[in-house]
Amino acid sequence: MEEAVARPAGPARGARGAAGGGAGQAVRPVALGDVRAEAVARLSTGIGELDRVLGGGVVPGSLVLIGGSPGIGKSTLTTMALAHLAASGRRTLYVSAEESAAQIKLRAERLSSAHALQIPTIAETDLATVLATLEREKPDVCVIDSVQTLHSTALSGAPGSVGQVREVAGEIMRVAKTHAIAVLLVGHVTKEGALAGPRVLEHLVDCVLQFEGERERTYRTLRALKNRFGSTSEAGVFEMRDDGLAEVLDASARFVGEATRAPGSVVLAAMEGSRPLLVEVQALVSQSDLEIPRRVVSGIDRNRLALVLAVLARHGGVGVGTSDVFVNVVGGVRVDEPGADLAVALAVASAARGVPLADAPDAPPLACFGELGLTGELRTVAHADRRVAEARKFGLREIVTPEVGTLRAALRPLRAEHARSSDSGRAVAIR
Ligand code: TYD
Ligand code: MG
Repeated sequence: MEEAVARPAGPARGARGAAGGGAGQAVRPVALGDVRAEAVARLSTGIGELDRVLGGGVVPGSLVLIGGSPGIGKSTLTTMALAHLAASGRRTLYVSAEESAAQIKLRAERLSSAHALQIPTIAETDLATVLATLEREKPDVCVIDSVQTLHSTALSGAPGSVGQVREVAGEIMRVAKTHAIAVLLVGHVTKEGALAGPRVLEHLVDCVLQFEGERERTYRTLRALKNRFGSTSEAGVFEMRDDGLAEVLDASARFVGEATRAPGSVVLAAMEGSRPLLVEVQALVSQSDLEIPRRVVSGIDRNRLALVLAVLARHGGVGVGTSDVFVNVVGGVRVDEPGADLAVALAVASAARGVPLADAPDAPPLACFGELGLTGELRTVAHADRRVAEARKFGLREIVTPEVGTLRAALRPLRAEHARSSDSGRAVAIR
């Protein structure tokens, strides 16, 4: 395989047995059970959520790409990781091709980690200089911030062009593998994942971590899109504070505590990797003055909203045809799983009817999860028991699960409420 050739000295090596002959000679295949796989010693970054997403810490000699939009906190996260590593006696190096050493110092001074100011740093954009420095310093862990701003004079393209980004990453990988330097490569990705840069690197690096969230919001999630040394289903939640990023270990409690319980609000029992997470999903349905009404989402997929609205209209009796629809996952969290469908449907239906889902103003919010099928049925999703347990843990007694069978059945509480409240003229029926 191409990969085996391209990775002369990676930690995944060792698969090449002693049977190997010279070029062109047949080698004897080895049963996988007989392959000797050494346990990899990992370096802890001191940031629990980051270590977990990496699969237990940084693997020596590995190449990790950390992508995310500008301002999300990539430099902050990597600086904090290096500070912890430096404090635990590791050799570190911070290469900034984007900010001056003075700017990096200002950031380091804000951080709560006492060791941030000890990190050896260079502000340099020339690739050859960076490579030479790496060869001389031979750090255990190095941050390249960012791969798009380093520049190789061997190529004519501008920094950040596909050719340059490939060359920069390839050369850094060569030196890193030779000296077993773990490299955290920072890469910018626009909201649409557009910028060619990091995308072309995905096959080259060992791990791809995506840092997501909205700059204006406090919460950010870090997830692994690719991980040769661990699972890709892990995710970590962080909060940007004045003194750096803080791990959020009680995210469910916070989101439930902040949930409004107003019409259009519901709690989704989501899964963030292997952990359950309760988030509030809010919807607003309002008369549009546009010919094509707005469909605005934040935190969920826009096409998924289109599907949910179609199923709601066809099988749930809730049409929002000419109204604007806004759906938001509170806190800047992104839920990219089909299990969010039912929450979106309930939030929109509740908003459209102006009826809250919680049975009383002082009752805990309603929780739910489930995928919507095109025929209006509810489909089971992974880890139903853990989602229910998480909801219970935070005192949510009413949980709508796929077990109710259909969207129509899931909407029943609203219907009953609607019948009650229309007597008093309170609720507005869409149709
Ligand atoms: P930064 O790490 O520079 O983002 P990136 O490298 O992904 O572009 O930081 C992003 C924002 O976070 C920046 O606008 C300032 C803010 N910030 C804080 O709120 N608290 C802090 O302690 C730090 C260092 C930054
Ligand atoms: Mg930065």
